[in-house]
Amino acid sequence: MVVRKIKERIFSIGTIDWDRRLFDSLIPLPDGTSYNSYLIRGSEKTALIDTVDPSSEEEFITNIVRAGCDRIDAIIINHAEQDHAGSLPILLELFPGAKVYCTEKCKDLINHLLDVPAGRVQVVKTGDVLHLGDITLEFYEYPWVHWPETMVTYSPEEKILFSCDLFGSHFATSSLYMNEPCKIEIAAKRYYAEIMMPFRGSIKKHLESISNMDIQIIAPSHGPLYHDPEWIIDKYRQWTDDTVRNNVLIPYVSMHGSTERMVRTLTELLMERNIGVKPFHLTDADTGLLAMELVDAATVILATPTVLFGPHPVMVNTAYLANLVKPKTRYVSVIGSYGWGGKTIDALTSMIPHIKAELIPPVYIQGAPDEKTRDELKRLADTIAEKHASDPLVTDNY
Ligand code: FEO
Repeated sequence: MVVRKIKERIFSIGTIDWDRRLFDSLIPLPDGTSYNSYLIRGSEKTALIDTVDPSSEEEFITNIVRAGCDRIDAIIINHAEQDHAGSLPILLELFPGAKVYCTEKCKDLINHLLDVPAGRVQVVKTGDVLHLGDITLEFYEYPWVHWPETMVTYSPEEKILFSCDLFGSHFATSSLYMNEPCKIEIAAKRYYAEIMMPFRGSIKKHLESISNMDIQIIAPSHGPLYHDPEWIIDKYRQWTDDTVRNNVLIPYVSMHGSTERMVRTLTELLMERNIGVKPFHLTDADTGLLAMELVDAATVILATPTVLFGPHPVMVNTAYLANLVKPKTRYVSVIGSYGWGGKTIDALTSMIPHIKAELIPPVYIQGAPDEKTRDELKRLADTIAEKHASDPLVTDNY
């Protein structure tokens, strides 16, 4: 990785993880990622904003040396997760005069996670300012832009917002700035869906605070920087507002084909009613793609057979994940087939308490689908069409 100049006194010195394919043993990274760190050389003091994942700490230290940096006075930790704070211990060893600036909660977390001694930490709150000479850094506590301890850092002179996870994308690129909007929109939406969506309410409030800042550059800690901040802020406004699309997502799993046939039939019936529909086969699925579909689909239909007494375990996993990310889905239902009995519908609907959606009566049949099943699916499609048409939050204005 090379040291890249952002402004006369501000440099990007983080690392690119081209080949990483999984985060948290859960989140697929088809495009790799980067751990961005920023060096700010004020006329009196030098600061570093965030560090890198410990897996690339050697490369990071090389970058610090390449940047000709032999002194760091302040290390700003916007977020305690190890992909940003993980190289703190080695930095504190290399720069014994450096002080860590972070929120109170972050101080506690980096002590527990990384054994950072309390004596090296200066706790900051919203509105606190660190003077580096000709550059100042302002701190804003933004809890839940992933974890409860998160904050962002803003330089009013340089008009740069260092937003850490917020506005990030898991996208390894040699470009310092976003220059492939189609690709980055997908990567940023995937990132929002997987990491930020559970905190939609908090992020909406933070977006209001950001609208009061004069920002020329957004510098997140994953993926490229934005020199058109409104581009990504607008996307976040769209993803976090209460509106949903006139779309139906059907995550499905099938064992002997009955549930799959029902999914195909419902897909056609919804298309005939001019409703966007996405049947999503769950076996070997990329959960990031599923999360992206959950960002703005008005309706989610969980399609699963009954295995012994309840939903297929693959669907249980999906329902658990969907409940975790708390999508703004307006309507849910269940379709599928059982052999001799079971409590699939009750089991499944009780697993998604965080999805505040209206339950549309399920279509759950015994055995293989027939003409009667088609009639029931028609009724389901009609109900969905009516709900979407009469709901002011269902829109196609995207
Ligand atoms: Fe990029 Fe929440 O860490």
